[in-house]
Amino acid sequence: MNVFDLDTPALIIDLDRVETNIAEMAQRSRETGVRLRPHTKTHKMPEIARLQVDAGASGITCAKVGEAEVMVAAGFDDILIAYPIYGPAKLARLQALRDKARILVSLDSTEVAQGLGELGVASGSPVEVYVEVDTGHHRMGRAPGTPTAELVSQLADIKGITIIGLLTHAGHAYGATSLADRQLVVDKELIDLLATQRLCAEAGVVFHEISVGSTPSGRLEMARRGVTEVRPGTYVFNDTNMINLGVATQETCAAHILATVVSRPTPERFVIDAGTKCFTSDGVGRPDWIQVVGRDDLTMQFITEEHGVGTLDQSRGGKLSIGDKLLLIPSHVCPVINLFDSAYGTRNEEVVQELVVAGRGRVR
Ligand SMILES: Cc1ncc(COP(=O)(O)O)c(C=O)c1O
Repeated sequence: MNVFDLDTPALIIDLDRVETNIAEMAQRSRETGVRLRPHTKTHKMPEIARLQVDAGASGITCAKVGEAEVMVAAGFDDILIAYPIYGPAKLARLQALRDKARILVSLDSTEVAQGLGELGVASGSPVEVYVEVDTGHHRMGRAPGTPTAELVSQLADIKGITIIGLLTHAGHAYGATSLADRQLVVDKELIDLLATQRLCAEAGVVFHEISVGSTPSGRLEMARRGVTEVRPGTYVFNDTNMINLGVATQETCAAHILATVVSRPTPERFVIDAGTKCFTSDGVGRPDWIQVVGRDDLTMQFITEEHGVGTLDQSRGGKLSIGDKLLLIPSHVCPVINLFDSAYGTRNEEVVQELVVAGRGRVR
């Protein structure tokens, strides 16, 4: 079936483009000798994780225990859950996963480490942990240098865990709109991480792993001394955020929403059958936050739950009628994927596969 014959709205994955994006990042990993552990929060689909591992990824990253359960059930055996795991319910599920696969976790507190340590002692197999450092995103982690080194010293006294390295996510690289600014973010990130690693070693806690990564910063980080692992996620599909930052183009975007024009209330205005329940509200207000593939005469203006409202630049002479189908690129692709039960995999506009978004909604 041709993709434009599908009922809408639908999530469409261009499999040729996905494979090219995966191959390109894997090639960079091979060239630099830095391991790739892609974050699967972007796609949440075991089939796509399999393509990443087959292309050379050393393992995968998940955000939640529930996502890791999906991936272990699909046969993946080396998973980083880049999230603090706290409380008996989650610890029991973590142990069930550890019985089947290598599972690493990240944390930034002794409270979380205590629970993991009890698991490590009870099971006779220490839990491998990354200590998360705040290199500028100001989400998780203590500041680099003494604050993190002090935490690491306290963690080193907890039985049942093994500190394997430092981890950070340069989410603030999303605010760096030029290559020069991204270089500065990465420069500072690596200076801070390596200085922290040295401080820890001077205090007697030696580890070798430095795990970093976002899509805007990942390719730059791979070139840096000291980095051992990079965890980009969005690169597999890309989105208008990445186009805006100059690390993707419409051509390198692989996930689209197929929508139908359902109203043409004025010569200028059009309405499609996809709104926030397909695109989320992420990025609203940013120019070109949703882009129509191949139609730069169409500009999305606003969306409500079930309606996407845009305008046609009539001076360009293009036509648009009720019933026309459009392919649109979302602003932030990761939460968009989470809104769909399944996606249609295409090659050259032909639908070749239905992909279940097996990890969707696995927020626990
Ligand atoms: C801890 C962590 N690592 C890696 C990533 C991947 O970043 P990106 O989606 O920019 O590739 C994320 C994204 O949110 C993250 O939270």
